[in-house]
Amino acid sequence: MVTALCRVSDIPEGDARGFDIGAQRYIVVRRDHAISVFRNECPHLRIPLEWQENHFMDPGGEFLQCSTHGALFLPDTGECISGPCLGQFLVSVPFVCKEDQVFLQN
Ligand code: FES
Repeated sequence: MVTALCRVSDIPEGDARGFDIGAQRYIVVRRDHAISVFRNECPHLRIPLEWQENHFMDPGGEFLQCSTHGALFLPDTGECISGPCLGQFLVSVPFVCKEDQVFLQN
C-alpha cells in the first residue's frame, strides 16, 4: 500500500519540511536533489524535533537538529553525530518518488 505524503517541489533544496498523516509525523529532507523521509521523533526522548514549524535544520543548514537538546543528525541516513543520542538513528521511512510526488510505502 502506498500513501501520498507530499510533493518533491514542496521541499526547498537543502531544507526539510514536516508532514503529518493522522497521528504520525514525518520529516522529508531534500539535499543534493535526493529525498530522505524519517519519522519526526528524536531517539533521545521520542518527541518531535522542531519547536517552530518546519524548522529542522541546524544554523549551518548541514544537519537536522533537535530543538530540545541540540542533537545533530545526518540528513541522508538520520544518524545522530552529536548530542545525547549519539550513534542512534532517526527512523527511516520507506518511500518512492513518482514524478513530483512522494509516496510512503506501508
Ligand atoms: S529530545 Fe532530542 S536531543 Fe533530547
